[in-house]
Amino acid sequence: MVKLTVDDKTYQCQPDETVLEALLREEVAISYACKKGTCHSCMLRSSDTMPPLAAQSGLKDTQKKLHYFLACQCLPEQDMTIKLPDQSEFYTDGTVTRCEPLNRNTLLLVIAFKDAFEFNAGQFVNLQRPDGLTRSYSIANIPQQDNTLEFHVRRMDNGLFSSWLHDEIKVGDTIAVSEPRGHCFYLPERGGQGLLLIGTGTGLAPLAGILTDALSHGHTGPIYLFHGSREREDLYRIDEMRQLAADHPNFHYVPCLSGPDVPDGFSRGRANEVAMSTLADLKDWRVFLCGHPDMVNQTKKMAFLKGASMKDIYADAFFLAI
Ligand code: FES
Repeated sequence: MVKLTVDDKTYQCQPDETVLEALLREEVAISYACKKGTCHSCMLRSSDTMPPLAAQSGLKDTQKKLHYFLACQCLPEQDMTIKLPDQSEFYTDGTVTRCEPLNRNTLLLVIAFKDAFEFNAGQFVNLQRPDGLTRSYSIANIPQQDNTLEFHVRRMDNGLFSSWLHDEIKVGDTIAVSEPRGHCFYLPERGGQGLLLIGTGTGLAPLAGILTDALSHGHTGPIYLFHGSREREDLYRIDEMRQLAADHPNFHYVPCLSGPDVPDGFSRGRANEVAMSTLADLKDWRVFLCGHPDMVNQTKKMAFLKGASMKDIYADAFFLAI
């Protein structure tokens, strides 16, 4: 059994237990969200030993050299002395400038920063509550001069973080925001390529950023956005998307409803299935998938079978932490 020393206290790490699991079992206050090595919110630093290679996957070379590692990916091979990070290393404070409903269960949250916040539309950040609770949210806007980030926050059943944002946060409050992460974003090369965007629920957030970015770069290829939910009341930004489609002949917006009531102007069925029955061939298309992990995984295969190359399929599966 391996020993973990944190702030002069020593804990046992069981075989096959990650550092994150061991510290949570011992009730050490440590932030985390995805537990999959994606969000980086559980980053720690070893002050004595080199962490296992797998625990440093995806980190910057400079972080690796300083022995940073992801606690959720770390199966320690020897005793480790661990430093809990100074959160100011990874987080910047922003000020809430808008928080208002987009529909019955989705909140529009806009956070402004004093200095430029560099990101690519479609990436995500971690937001952190003062007690350390951390969750990842996709950025819904493109980089702008006013240094703001826009988020669409769905209220999760029993969701600790989303309830806090929906019920307690107000304009003027401060929220800690991590640096941006993720590879699901638009690059303005191959501007004549077809773009297929499929999202469910607040999967519209990163797709809206990617769409705006593509249109602002003058993308000339066809762009299809399929946004799905079960009921009409759970979609949002419908008029705005329709207006964009009216203004840009190469952009096609298809709102999809999988429930029994499907008014005129909406397509019946799940967004991914409607997309696959609409587009016969995805050879040379770029595909962006955002939403529930099951939908994302299923649609990756569907898009591949329709001819899309795996290297052209970008996915942002939501972490389902509450
Ligand atoms: S990377 Fe460890 S919790 Fe997300």
